[in-house]
Amino acid sequence: MDKPDKRDLLKRAAAERAVEYVESGMVVGLGGGTTALWAIRKIGDLVEQGALRNIVGIPVSSNSAREADSRHVPLATLEEYPVIDLTIDGADEITPALDLIKGGGGELLREKIVSQATKRRIFVADDSKLSSALGERFRLPVEVIPFGWSSQFSFLQSLNATVTVRRGQDGSPYRTDQGNMILDCNFGKIIDPRGLARVLESRAGIVEHGLFLGFADEVVVAGEGGIRVFKSERGKDKAEG
Ligand code: A5P
Repeated sequence: MDKPDKRDLLKRAAAERAVEYVESGMVVGLGGGTTALWAIRKIGDLVEQGALRNIVGIPVSSNSAREADSRHVPLATLEEYPVIDLTIDGADEITPALDLIKGGGGELLREKIVSQATKRRIFVADDSKLSSALGERFRLPVEVIPFGWSSQFSFLQSLNATVTVRRGQDGSPYRTDQGNMILDCNFGKIIDPRGLARVLESRAGIVEHGLFLGFADEVVVAGEGGIRVFKSERGKDKAEG
């Protein structure tokens, strides 16, 4: 087996710390991306050891479902469990206010649906994801339906983004689990993310965007110096309530 690289070890450390919040009997949202996969693996180990019992996982993507299934994590759907106790998911960019960009793996729509159905939302990352402003380090993924997609492409350009059609390994346009396309938008630093979110949400044909604003209760970040846990006001209120 290849030696895991440093980033991977940090991702794993953050994810495994977050799994400490998972308790027997919980409905757990299983996020997407390489960091969240480490959480799924750890949950699988704990299930196998009998340390976690009666948990049900709700995967955000076919990838997460496959990993969970291979680790014998019992799975169910959001239709069966419309309220999730806790979700552990990754992030592409994280600001000091704990606003996020997600969707690097193309799973933003389901991730947002699962997140909004969740009581306690934990995001996990290595410290390369920290940034002072959204858009500084990562392009914003925007999911559009294939019908009339080039019209959304032009619309996004008119908002001053440099837009790229995301492609799969075979070079054809990448398709999400819903069969939609992703347009990756470089806005540079996004000065008014809430304003931008409103504009994107008012455009027919745009299904979802990767701005996760005010979603995080807690963010667990691993770096060379150790693990830091950041709590948002939302997360603090819950801890006190
Ligand atoms: C999946 O669509 C994403 O939102 C991921 O959660 C995000 O891209 C982080 O991915 P990594 O953990 O692989 O960096």
